[in-house]
Amino acid sequence: MKDLIARAARELAATRRAVALTGAGISIESGIPPFRGPGGLWEKVDPMEVAHIDAFRRNPQKVWALLIRGMQTVLAKAAPNPAHRGLATLEALGHLQAVITQNVDGLHQQAGSRDVIEFHGNFAWQRCMICERRCRSEELDLATIPPRCDCGGIYRPDCVFFGEMIPPEHLARAQQLSAGCQVMLVVGTSATVHPAAMLPHLARNAGARVIEVNPEPTPLTGTVSDYLISGPASKVVDALASAVTALRPTLDG
Ligand code: OAD
Repeated sequence: MKDLIARAARELAATRRAVALTGAGISIESGIPPFRGPGGLWEKVDPMEVAHIDAFRRNPQKVWALLIRGMQTVLAKAAPNPAHRGLATLEALGHLQAVITQNVDGLHQQAGSRDVIEFHGNFAWQRCMICERRCRSEELDLATIPPRCDCGGIYRPDCVFFGEMIPPEHLARAQQLSAGCQVMLVVGTSATVHPAAMLPHLARNAGARVIEVNPEPTPLTGTVSDYLISGPASKVVDALASAVTALRPTLDG
Protein backbone atom coordinates (compact mmCIF):
# COMPACT_ATOMS: atom_id res chain seq x y z
CA MET A 1 0.00 0.00 0.00
CA LYS A 2 2.85 2.40 0.88
CA ASP A 3 4.38 2.06 -2.58
CA LEU A 4 1.06 2.71 -4.30
CA ILE A 5 0.41 5.78 -2.13
CA ALA A 6 3.85 7.14 -3.06
CA ARG A 7 3.15 6.46 -6.76
CA ALA A 8 -0.29 8.11 -6.62
CA ALA A 9 1.16 11.10 -4.75
CA ARG A 10 3.76 11.62 -7.49
CA GLU A 11 1.06 11.45 -10.16
CA LEU A 12 -1.16 13.91 -8.28
CA ALA A 13 1.71 16.28 -7.51
CA ALA A 14 2.61 16.40 -11.19
CA THR A 15 -0.81 17.63 -12.34
CA ARG A 16 -3.18 20.53 -11.85
CA ARG A 17 -5.95 18.61 -13.55
CA ALA A 18 -6.96 15.85 -11.16
CA VAL A 19 -10.61 15.14 -10.36
CA ALA A 20 -12.09 12.98 -7.60
CA LEU A 21 -15.20 10.83 -7.93
CA THR A 22 -16.52 9.81 -4.52
CA GLY A 23 -19.22 7.51 -3.19
CA ALA A 24 -20.72 6.30 0.06
CA GLY A 25 -17.48 4.56 1.12
CA ILE A 26 -15.77 7.88 1.84
CA SER A 27 -18.42 8.74 4.44
CA ILE A 28 -18.61 5.35 6.19
CA GLU A 29 -15.95 6.48 8.66
CA SER A 30 -18.12 9.54 9.36
CA GLY A 31 -20.86 7.21 10.60
CA ILE A 32 -23.00 7.04 7.45
CA PRO A 33 -23.74 3.48 6.30
CA PRO A 34 -23.22 2.58 2.62
CA PHE A 35 -25.94 1.36 0.24
CA ARG A 36 -24.44 -2.00 -0.72
CA GLY A 37 -22.42 -4.65 1.05
CA PRO A 38 -22.44 -5.60 4.73
CA GLY A 39 -24.56 -3.21 6.82
CA GLY A 40 -25.71 -1.48 3.62
CA LEU A 41 -29.03 0.34 3.49
CA TRP A 42 -30.31 -1.75 0.59
CA GLU A 43 -29.99 -4.88 2.78
CA LYS A 44 -32.66 -3.40 5.05
CA VAL A 45 -35.00 -1.74 2.58
CA ASP A 46 -35.68 -2.35 -1.08
CA PRO A 47 -34.50 0.66 -3.12
CA MET A 48 -37.37 0.19 -5.59
CA GLU A 49 -39.81 0.55 -2.65
CA VAL A 50 -38.21 3.58 -1.00
CA ALA A 51 -35.80 5.30 -3.35
CA HIS A 52 -37.62 5.27 -6.69
CA ILE A 53 -39.54 8.37 -7.71
CA ASP A 54 -42.60 6.25 -8.57
CA ALA A 55 -42.59 4.80 -5.02
CA PHE A 56 -42.40 8.33 -3.61
CA ARG A 57 -45.27 9.52 -5.81
CA ARG A 58 -47.37 6.48 -4.85
CA ASN A 59 -46.78 6.75 -1.13
CA PRO A 60 -44.71 9.72 0.07
CA GLN A 61 -45.65 9.04 3.68
CA LYS A 62 -44.04 5.59 3.51
CA VAL A 63 -40.84 6.88 1.88
CA TRP A 64 -40.56 9.66 4.46
CA ALA A 65 -41.08 7.12 7.27
CA LEU A 66 -38.78 4.37 5.95
CA LEU A 67 -35.98 6.36 4.37
CA ILE A 68 -35.91 10.13 4.50
CA ARG A 69 -36.51 10.80 8.20
CA GLY A 70 -33.94 8.20 9.30
CA MET A 71 -31.34 9.40 6.79
CA GLN A 72 -31.75 12.97 7.98
CA THR A 73 -31.09 11.90 11.56
CA VAL A 74 -27.93 10.01 10.53
CA LEU A 75 -26.66 12.85 8.33
CA ALA A 76 -27.27 15.48 11.01
CA LYS A 77 -24.80 13.69 13.31
CA ALA A 78 -22.07 13.12 10.71
CA ALA A 79 -18.87 15.14 10.48
CA PRO A 80 -16.12 15.09 7.83
CA ASN A 81 -13.29 12.58 8.28
CA PRO A 82 -9.62 12.78 7.19
CA ALA A 83 -10.54 11.56 3.66
CA HIS A 84 -12.86 14.53 3.07
CA ARG A 85 -10.21 16.84 4.51
CA GLY A 86 -7.48 15.22 2.40
CA LEU A 87 -9.39 16.01 -0.81
CA ALA A 88 -9.93 19.60 0.37
CA THR A 89 -6.15 19.87 0.91
CA LEU A 90 -5.44 18.55 -2.58
CA GLU A 91 -7.77 21.21 -3.99
CA ALA A 92 -6.20 23.98 -1.87
CA LEU A 93 -2.74 22.91 -3.10
CA GLY A 94 -3.96 23.36 -6.67
CA HIS A 95 -3.84 19.74 -7.82
CA LEU A 96 -7.50 18.74 -7.58
CA GLN A 97 -9.89 20.70 -9.78
CA ALA A 98 -13.15 19.41 -8.34
CA VAL A 99 -14.90 16.64 -6.45
CA ILE A 100 -17.77 14.88 -8.19
CA THR A 101 -19.71 13.18 -5.44
CA GLN A 102 -22.62 10.76 -5.49
CA ASN A 103 -23.15 11.49 -1.79
CA VAL A 104 -25.93 13.71 -0.50
CA ASP A 105 -24.32 14.43 2.88
CA GLY A 106 -22.55 17.75 2.20
CA LEU A 107 -19.40 16.53 4.01
CA HIS A 108 -16.99 17.57 1.25
CA GLN A 109 -18.08 21.20 1.58
CA GLN A 110 -17.95 20.98 5.36
CA ALA A 111 -14.37 19.74 5.06
CA GLY A 112 -13.42 22.77 2.96
CA SER A 113 -13.77 21.56 -0.64
CA ARG A 114 -14.97 24.47 -2.75
CA ASP A 115 -15.75 22.95 -6.12
CA VAL A 116 -18.13 20.07 -5.43
CA ILE A 117 -20.53 18.67 -8.00
CA GLU A 118 -23.35 17.01 -6.11
CA PHE A 119 -24.32 14.50 -8.75
CA HIS A 120 -27.25 13.11 -6.74
CA GLY A 121 -28.19 16.34 -4.94
CA ASN A 122 -28.12 17.18 -1.24
CA PHE A 123 -30.32 15.96 1.59
CA ALA A 124 -29.91 19.20 3.52
CA TRP A 125 -32.39 20.86 1.19
CA GLN A 126 -36.05 20.14 0.49
CA ARG A 127 -38.19 21.22 -2.42
CA CYS A 128 -41.97 21.53 -2.72
CA MET A 129 -43.31 19.27 -5.45
CA ILE A 130 -45.87 21.87 -6.55
CA CYS A 131 -44.40 25.38 -6.23
CA GLU A 132 -40.70 24.34 -6.12
CA ARG A 133 -40.06 26.43 -2.98
CA ARG A 134 -36.82 25.27 -1.38
CA CYS A 135 -36.03 25.20 2.32
CA ARG A 136 -33.45 23.70 4.67
CA SER A 137 -34.40 20.25 5.97
CA GLU A 138 -34.05 21.31 9.60
CA GLU A 139 -36.71 24.00 9.10
CA LEU A 140 -39.38 21.38 8.47
CA ASP A 141 -41.77 20.24 11.18
CA LEU A 142 -41.76 16.45 10.95
CA ALA A 143 -44.59 15.94 13.48
CA THR A 144 -46.69 14.93 10.48
CA ILE A 145 -45.15 13.29 7.48
CA PRO A 146 -44.92 13.96 4.66
CA PRO A 147 -44.24 17.60 5.50
CA ARG A 148 -46.16 20.08 3.38
CA CYS A 149 -45.49 23.51 1.97
CA ASP A 150 -47.88 26.46 2.59
CA CYS A 151 -49.20 25.85 -0.95
CA GLY A 152 -50.25 22.31 0.06
CA GLY A 153 -47.53 20.56 -1.94
CA ILE A 154 -45.43 17.77 -0.45
CA TYR A 155 -41.78 18.40 0.34
CA ARG A 156 -39.19 16.05 -1.11
CA PRO A 157 -35.43 16.01 -0.61
CA ASP A 158 -33.57 18.02 -3.23
CA CYS A 159 -31.83 14.90 -4.46
CA VAL A 160 -32.09 12.44 -7.30
CA PHE A 161 -34.35 9.43 -6.82
CA PHE A 162 -33.95 6.31 -8.92
CA GLY A 163 -35.93 6.86 -12.11
CA GLU A 164 -34.97 10.55 -12.29
CA MET A 165 -32.44 12.32 -14.47
CA ILE A 166 -29.21 13.79 -13.16
CA PRO A 167 -29.57 17.60 -13.39
CA PRO A 168 -28.24 18.28 -16.93
CA GLU A 169 -25.81 21.01 -15.81
CA HIS A 170 -24.21 18.63 -13.26
CA LEU A 171 -24.01 15.79 -15.76
CA ALA A 172 -22.45 18.02 -18.43
CA ARG A 173 -19.85 19.50 -16.07
CA ALA A 174 -18.96 16.10 -14.60
CA GLN A 175 -18.50 14.65 -18.09
CA GLN A 176 -16.41 17.62 -19.18
CA LEU A 177 -14.14 17.39 -16.12
CA SER A 178 -13.79 13.62 -16.48
CA ALA A 179 -12.89 13.81 -20.16
CA GLY A 180 -10.39 16.63 -19.50
CA CYS A 181 -8.58 15.40 -16.38
CA GLN A 182 -5.12 13.85 -16.23
CA VAL A 183 -5.74 11.88 -13.03
CA MET A 184 -9.04 10.61 -11.65
CA LEU A 185 -9.16 9.50 -8.03
CA VAL A 186 -12.13 7.17 -7.49
CA VAL A 187 -12.82 6.90 -3.77
CA GLY A 188 -15.32 4.67 -1.98
CA THR A 189 -17.75 3.85 -4.74
CA SER A 190 -18.93 0.44 -5.92
CA ALA A 191 -19.10 2.01 -9.40
CA THR A 192 -22.35 0.24 -10.16
CA VAL A 193 -24.84 3.10 -10.57
CA HIS A 194 -24.99 4.92 -13.89
CA PRO A 195 -24.35 7.51 -15.16
CA ALA A 196 -21.80 8.19 -12.36
CA ALA A 197 -20.15 4.82 -12.96
CA MET A 198 -19.28 5.72 -16.55
CA LEU A 199 -17.24 8.80 -15.57
CA PRO A 200 -14.05 6.78 -14.89
CA HIS A 201 -14.51 5.18 -18.35
CA LEU A 202 -14.64 8.67 -19.89
CA ALA A 203 -11.46 9.66 -18.04
CA ARG A 204 -9.66 6.49 -19.03
CA ASN A 205 -10.69 6.76 -22.69
CA ALA A 206 -9.35 10.31 -22.76
CA GLY A 207 -5.97 9.10 -21.51
CA ALA A 208 -6.20 9.87 -17.78
CA ARG A 209 -4.72 7.75 -15.03
CA VAL A 210 -7.53 6.25 -12.94
CA ILE A 211 -6.63 5.46 -9.33
CA GLU A 212 -9.06 3.69 -7.02
CA VAL A 213 -9.19 3.90 -3.22
CA ASN A 214 -11.38 1.16 -1.79
CA PRO A 215 -10.90 -1.76 0.62
CA GLU A 216 -12.52 -4.01 -2.03
CA PRO A 217 -12.11 -4.38 -5.78
CA THR A 218 -14.90 -2.98 -7.99
CA PRO A 219 -15.96 -3.55 -11.61
CA LEU A 220 -13.38 -0.87 -12.53
CA THR A 221 -10.49 -2.75 -10.93
CA GLY A 222 -8.10 -4.28 -13.41
CA THR A 223 -10.09 -2.98 -16.38
CA VAL A 224 -10.64 0.77 -16.14
CA SER A 225 -8.49 1.74 -13.18
CA ASP A 226 -4.72 1.62 -13.43
CA TYR A 227 -4.44 0.42 -9.84
CA LEU A 228 -6.37 0.01 -6.61
CA ILE A 229 -5.03 1.34 -3.32
CA SER A 230 -6.70 -1.14 -1.06
CA GLY A 231 -7.64 0.39 2.29
CA PRO A 232 -10.05 2.67 4.12
CA ALA A 233 -10.45 6.12 2.58
CA SER A 234 -9.60 8.06 5.76
CA LYS A 235 -6.19 6.42 6.02
CA VAL A 236 -5.32 6.36 2.31
CA VAL A 237 -6.52 9.83 1.25
CA ASP A 238 -5.01 11.42 4.35
CA ALA A 239 -1.68 9.75 3.57
CA LEU A 240 -1.95 10.84 -0.06
CA ALA A 241 -2.57 14.48 0.86
CA SER A 242 0.41 14.42 3.26
CA ALA A 243 2.65 12.81 0.65
CA VAL A 244 1.66 15.37 -2.02
CA THR A 245 2.28 18.19 0.48
CA ALA A 246 5.72 16.74 1.27
CA LEU A 247 6.61 16.58 -2.44
CA ARG A 248 5.79 20.25 -3.04
CA PRO A 249 8.99 21.94 -1.82
CA THR A 250 10.88 19.86 -4.37
CA LEU A 251 8.42 20.81 -7.12
CA ASP A 252 8.13 24.48 -6.16
CA GLY A 253 11.87 24.84 -5.81
P1 OAD B 1 -22.10 1.71 -2.42
O1 OAD B 1 -22.76 1.46 -1.10
O2 OAD B 1 -22.65 1.02 -3.61
O3 OAD B 1 -20.55 1.32 -2.34
C1 OAD B 1 -19.74 1.71 -1.26
C2 OAD B 1 -18.31 1.38 -1.61
O4 OAD B 1 -17.49 1.82 -0.54
C3 OAD B 1 -18.00 -0.12 -1.80
O5 OAD B 1 -17.26 -0.31 -3.00
C4 OAD B 1 -17.14 -0.46 -0.58
O6 OAD B 1 -16.18 -1.49 -0.84
C5 OAD B 1 -16.47 0.86 -0.31
N1 OAD B 1 -15.97 1.06 1.07
C6 OAD B 1 -16.35 0.43 2.21
N2 OAD B 1 -15.68 0.93 3.27
C7 OAD B 1 -14.84 1.88 2.79
C8 OAD B 1 -13.89 2.76 3.37
N3 OAD B 1 -13.65 2.77 4.68
N4 OAD B 1 -13.20 3.60 2.57
C9 OAD B 1 -13.43 3.60 1.22
N5 OAD B 1 -14.33 2.81 0.62
C10 OAD B 1 -15.03 1.96 1.38
O7 OAD B 1 -22.09 3.29 -2.61
P2 OAD B 1 -22.02 4.17 -3.94
O8 OAD B 1 -21.06 3.58 -4.92
O9 OAD B 1 -21.80 5.56 -3.53
O10 OAD B 1 -27.76 6.54 -5.45
O11 OAD B 1 -23.50 4.01 -4.49
C11 OAD B 1 -23.85 4.73 -5.64
C12 OAD B 1 -25.29 5.15 -5.57
O12 OAD B 1 -26.11 4.03 -5.27
C13 OAD B 1 -25.63 6.12 -4.45
O13 OAD B 1 -25.32 7.45 -4.75
C14 OAD B 1 -27.12 5.94 -4.32
C15 OAD B 1 -27.14 4.44 -4.33
O14 OAD B 1 -28.30 3.82 -4.67
C16 OAD B 1 -29.01 7.01 -5.35
O15 OAD B 1 -29.64 6.94 -4.32
C17 OAD B 1 -29.53 7.63 -6.60
